[in-house]
Amino acid sequence: MSKKIGRNDLCYCGSQKKYKNCHASFDDKITSFKIQGHEVPTREIIKTPEQIDGIRESGKVNIAVLDHVEQNLKVGMTTEDIDQLVYQKTIELGGIPATLNYEGFPKSVCTSINNQVCHGIPSEKVHLLDGDIINVDVSTIYKGYFSDSSRMYCIGNVSEENKRLVEVVKESIAKGLEQVKPWGFLGDMGQAIHEHALKNGYTVVQDIGGHGVGIHFHEEPWVSFVSKSGTEMLMVPGMIFTIEPMINQGTDEIFVDEENNWTVYTEDGKFSAQQEIMVLITDDGYEILAY
Ligand code: MF3
Ligand code: CO
Repeated sequence: MSKKIGRNDLCYCGSQKKYKNCHASFDDKITSFKIQGHEVPTREIIKTPEQIDGIRESGKVNIAVLDHVEQNLKVGMTTEDIDQLVYQKTIELGGIPATLNYEGFPKSVCTSINNQVCHGIPSEKVHLLDGDIINVDVSTIYKGYFSDSSRMYCIGNVSEENKRLVEVVKESIAKGLEQVKPWGFLGDMGQAIHEHALKNGYTVVQDIGGHGVGIHFHEEPWVSFVSKSGTEMLMVPGMIFTIEPMINQGTDEIFVDEENNWTVYTEDGKFSAQQEIMVLITDDGYEILAY
């Protein structure tokens, strides 16, 4: 049981200031959105400065691991080779791959090729072929803090059609970011991403979304990329979540591999591309913590 904080009590954030001179007006602002019927973050979703510093450091490791993969990618290598690169670099930098043994996931990274939407499992049987497009999704635990981001790569000579898909994913993230600011809504970002994909003749996967991240691998809120402006959770300084739309050339319908129970494929076999960034809402905009 906890007592409601008094306005003259010390603030919960650890500033040693009185609540009324610290987070009271911030909390009142959130409450006013709630009264208007909006979904608002709980205090757990809003990170403290100390947590943000830790998560930022974790993000730096995640970025360095992806940079390392990027420098070593080549036609003919296997996705198992990518797994080794991720495992070794993460350990070298003092981290732990967050996917390894996560709910039974057997590898240190997700590698999703062509018609695979996400959660591809690295294998020594899968070689990167000329013309493939691949998503490499890395997540790290560093000093107890979680980070998560993914990049899309074109292997060798990729067709104009498939290159365009990869381009549009990158563009859609940029369009979404234009809508990321404190006191806006996650739906503002989701709609911008969805519209950009649709405008280019693509669809956006509805059933898999982004997520809060930092203290745990997957936290509230769940983040949709087919949402509507003015809906979904209020964005508040201190929130950290991923933006990771999966964009399909054909139908948005997907299915999960029945053998491994992880890998997600497009229903029609057409290609899918994804990019994932991790963002912090700041007092005047956002900071990208991993990409
Ligand atoms: N990085 C993926 C995500 O964005 C991780 C999925 S969990 C896994 O959430 F076990 F499949 F790796
Ligand atoms: Co993620």
